Amino acid sequence: MDRNLRNASLLVVILALGWRASATSTVAAAASVAQAREYAAANKDAFSRQLLDLASIASISALPQHNKDILKAADWLQQHLTSIGLENVQVLETEGPQPVVYADWLHAPGKPTVLVYGHYDVQPVDPLDLWASPPFEPQLQQMDDQSYFVGRGVDDDKGGLLQALQGVESFLRTSHSLPLNVKFILEGQEEIGSPNLEAFLIKHKAGLLAGIDMAISADGGQVAADQPGIGTGLRGAVAFEVEVSTAGMDLHSGMKGGSVQNANHALVALLASLKDADNRITVPGFYDDVATMAAEDKESVATFPFDKSAEQQALGVLGFMGEAGFGPLEHRWYRPTLEVVGMWGGFTGAGMKTVIPRVANAKLSCRLVPNMSPDDIASKVKSHLERKGAELLANVTVTVSGFRSYPWTSPRDTPGNVLSAGVLEQAMGKKPVYYRDGGTIPALAYFQQVLGLNSTIFAFGVGDHIHAPNERLLEHLFHTGRKAWVEYLAVLGDKLVGLLPPDAPVHAGSGVGRDEL
Ligand SMILES: *[C@@H]1O[C@H](CO)[C@@H](O)[C@H](O)[C@H]1NC(C)=O
Ligand SMILES: *[C@@H]1O[C@H](CO)[C@@H](O)[C@H](O)[C@H]1NC(C)=O
Repeated sequence: MDRNLRNASLLVVILALGWRASATSTVAAAASVAQAREYAAANKDAFSRQLLDLASIASISALPQHNKDILKAADWLQQHLTSIGLENVQVLETEGPQPVVYADWLHAPGKPTVLVYGHYDVQPVDPLDLWASPPFEPQLQQMDDQSYFVGRGVDDDKGGLLQALQGVESFLRTSHSLPLNVKFILEGQEEIGSPNLEAFLIKHKAGLLAGIDMAISADGGQVAADQPGIGTGLRGAVAFEVEVSTAGMDLHSGMKGGSVQNANHALVALLASLKDADNRITVPGFYDDVATMAAEDKESVATFPFDKSAEQQALGVLGFMGEAGFGPLEHRWYRPTLEVVGMWGGFTGAGMKTVIPRVANAKLSCRLVPNMSPDDIASKVKSHLERKGAELLANVTVTVSGFRSYPWTSPRDTPGNVLSAGVLEQAMGKKPVYYRDGGTIPALAYFQQVLGLNSTIFAFGVGDHIHAPNERLLEHLFHTGRKAWVEYLAVLGDKLVGLLPPDAPVHAGSGVGRDEL
C-alpha cells in the first residue's frame, strides 16, 4: 500500500515535470515563431538586396561560357548559407559542370526532417533587345502600376529559393533554432533538365540524404497574385534532334530536280507524319500509358480560374487547338505533346540558289503525362521516324537529347499539402485551388522514385515572363513568400509528425537528432 502510494506520487511528480517541460517548450516555440515573424517583416530592404545580389550573377546552365558564373552563384550561396547559420554547407560535385549546394540544420530531436529544393541556374536571356533593362542588372521597377523585381532569375528560381532561405534565416538569426530539421539541396541544372540529379540522389541517398520525411520545392509558383494553389502534378519531358539526309552532296535543281528526294521536303513530310488532322500524335503506341482523367482531375479543371478569351488576348494567339474533347487546361495538364521546336535546312541566304539540299534538321520535344516514361517514348518516336524516313528515301538519324524527365503527380492530401493549404489561405487571403502545371521540375519525380518522398510545391511567383525577356516578380509576393515560409516551417514543426505514416523516418527515430548519436 505504502509502496503503491509512493509510486503513485512519484508518477504525479514525473507527469508534472513532463508537463512543465512540454509546456515550457511550447511557450519557447511560440516565442521563437513570434520573433521570426517580426524579423521577417522588419528587414525588407536587406532581403531585397539578397535577391538583387544573387540575380546579378549570370548563372545560365545551358551555355558553357557561363560555367564560371554557375560556380560564382554556388559560391555566393555557400557563403550566404553559412552566414545565416545553416551548417555542414558544401558545394558538391555532380557528373556535370554544375554542382549542388547542400546545407542542413539538424538540432530538433523528435521533430521531422524536411528536404528543401531550389535551383540557382537560370535560362538564357535572348532575345536581348526585348529586355527593358539588362537581364543581369536586376532592379525594382514600376510596371503596369505595380512594383516588380525585373531581371533573369528574380522569380525562377532565385526569388523562390531565397524566400525559403529567408524563412530559415528569420528563425536562426533570432532564436538560433528551427522548429524542425532541414536539409537544403540547391542545384544548378534544373533549366537543362537536371541530367545529373538522379545519379546525385542515388549517391547520397544513404548518407547526406538519409532520414528525410518529406520534400518541399521552392521552385514552382502560385496561380495568381490573389489566388493560391496547390500543385498536384507536373509533366515530364523528352527531346530529340533529327537529321535527314538524302544524297551524298547538294544537287542541281534543274539537272536532277524531280528525280531525287530533297532533304527539306523529306523533313517536312516526316514531321507532318507525326500528327493527324485531329491533332492526335500518330506515333504507334504513343498514348498507350496515358492515364485517363479521374473525377478529381475534372474538378480541378472546372474550379480553376481560367478566362479563355483573356488568355487568348494575353498570348496573342489566333485561337486554341487540340484533340477533340479536351480544352486548353486538359491539354496542358493531362495530355502529352510532340512539338517541333526548331528546323533548318538548305539555302537560306539572300537571293536564290538552284539547289536540292542533301541534309535538313529539326529539334523536337515531348511533354509527358502519367504514366508515360521518357525512354519508352524516345524509342517509339525514334522507330516511327526511322521507318517513315525509309519510305521517303531519306536516312534519318535521331539523337535523344539530355532533356529527359518523368512526369510527377501528388495526391491532394499528402501531409505537406494539408499543412500548406492553411498557410496559403492565411498568407494570400483565399482558399487554395488544386491544379496541375504543364511544365516540368525533374527533381520532384526523382525525389519520389529515388528517395520515396512526397513533395509539396511551396513557391510564390506567378510565372510572369519566366524563361522570356523581362522576367519579373511582384515585390509584394516576394515578401509574402518569406513570411509564409516562417509560418510553414512553424506549422510543419508543430503538426507534421502527427500526420506522417508510421514508417516515416521520424517515427523510426532515424530522422532527427543525429547530432546526438
Ligand atoms: C544512308 O545510310 C547508309 C547506311 O548507313 C549509308 O551507306 C549512306 O551513305 C547514307 N546516305 C546518306 C545520303 O546519308
Ligand atoms: C505520401 O502521401 C500519401 C497521401 O497522403 C500518404 O498516404 C503517404 O503515407 C505519404 N508518404 C510519406 C512517405 O509521407
